[in-house]
Amino acid sequence: TEPLKIALAGLGTVGTGVVRLIETNAQLIARRARRPVQITAVSARDRTKDRGVDLSAYAWVDDPAELATREDVDVVVEMVGGSDGPALAIARTALAHGKSLVTANKAMLAHHGLELAETAEKAGAALKFEAAVAGGIPVVNGLIDGAAANAVERVYGILNGTCNYILSTMEDTGADFGDVLADAQRLGYAEADPTFDVEGIDAAHKLSLLASIAFGARLDFDAVECVGISQVKAADIAQAQDLGYVIRLIGMSEVDTAEGSPRLFQRVRPFLVPTGHPLANVDGPTNAIVAEGNFVGRLLFQGAGAGDGPTASAVVADIIEVARGEKGPAFAMPVAELEVMEPAASGHR
Ligand code: NDP
Ligand code: HSE
Repeated sequence: TEPLKIALAGLGTVGTGVVRLIETNAQLIARRARRPVQITAVSARDRTKDRGVDLSAYAWVDDPAELATREDVDVVVEMVGGSDGPALAIARTALAHGKSLVTANKAMLAHHGLELAETAEKAGAALKFEAAVAGGIPVVNGLIDGAAANAVERVYGILNGTCNYILSTMEDTGADFGDVLADAQRLGYAEADPTFDVEGIDAAHKLSLLASIAFGARLDFDAVECVGISQVKAADIAQAQDLGYVIRLIGMSEVDTAEGSPRLFQRVRPFLVPTGHPLANVDGPTNAIVAEGNFVGRLLFQGAGAGDGPTASAVVADIIEVARGEKGPAFAMPVAELEVMEPAASGHR
C-alpha cells in the first residue's frame, strides 16, 4: 500500500513528540491508518540544533512553506505556532496546493480558521486540529463526531494547562507565581510567549474553537470576554480555600434562549469552584471539559492538556484519520442562527 507521506513544520516540544511517537508506534499506526505513515521532510529554524531525535532520514527544508510544494508530501503538519507569520504561510500554501493540513495551532485557527476551512473545502483537503484544543484530549472529535446527534447547551472547562499548573501548585505548596510559571515553561507547557497563557488568551483561542464546534456558531475569537490569572494572589487562593473553593481559570460558553432568539456567550476568567465539583480536583497541566447535550446529558472530557506526548498523540490521531481518507467538516455545520455576543454585551449572570 502507498504510504501517507507527511512533512513536519516545527520541531520543538510538539514536533519532536510527533517524531518520537511515529517512530515508536509505527506498526500500530500503519494498522489503524490502513497504510504506513512516513515522514519525508522536516523544517524548523535552526538546522544545527540537537533535538534528541534522529532526523537524518528526512529531507531538511529551510523555508517551511516550501514543504507544501514538494512531490513527496501529501500532508503538512504545522507545529510552528503563532497566529500569523510562518505558520499561516505554511497553512495557506499547503491548502492552496490541495495538501491536507494538520495543526496544533489554536492561535492561528482562532484568527484565520474560517478562511482556512473554506480553502480546505474548496481544495478537497482536510483541515484537522485535535491538538489545538486541550492537548491530548479528544474533545474536538468527541464533539464533532461523538456528540453529533445532540443540541449542545453548554460547554465549559479548564483549557489551559499552564494556568492550571500554576493555580494548583500555588494551592498545594504556596509557591510563588513566577517560580511556578518558570517550571511550566521548562516542562514545555507554556506558549512561546507565556503572556498568552497567563492572560487567558490561549484559553480564549481554544474556547472560540470549541464554541464554534459545539454550537455550530460563527467562529469569533474577538467575542470572547477574557480575564487571565496574572492578578490572582497567593492570598486569594488561601482565602478561597478557607471558604471551601479553589480558583480555576475556566472557559465558559453557553447559549441563552431566555430573551427570544438564541445568543452565544463566551468568557474566560478565574472562577471560584466548590471543592466538591469535578473541575476542582483537576490539578497540574490537566485539562477538563464539560459538555451538556440534550440527549447524552453531561459529558466530561479529562486528560493532559499540554506537553509533548499528549499533544503528539492528538496530532497523530488526526494524521491517521487523514490517512484513512476521512476529511470531516473542520467546523461543525451551523445548526441555528446564533447571535454571537461581543464582550461588552456579555455581562449576563
Ligand atoms: P516550540 O517553541 O517548542 O517549537 C516551535 C518550533 O517551530 C521550533 O522547532 C522552531 O524552530 C520552529 N519555528 C519557529 N519559528 C519558525 C520560523 N520562523 N521558521 C521555521 N521554523 C520556526 O513550540 P511547541 O512545540 O510548544 O508548540 C508548537 C505549536 O503547538 C504551537 O502552535 C502551540 O500553541 C501548539 N501546542 C503546544 C502544546 C504544548 O504543550 N507545547 C500543546 C498544544 C498545542 P527551532 O526549534 O529551530 O527554533
Ligand atoms: N500553553 C498551552 C497550555 C499548551 O498551557 O495549555 C497547550 O495548548
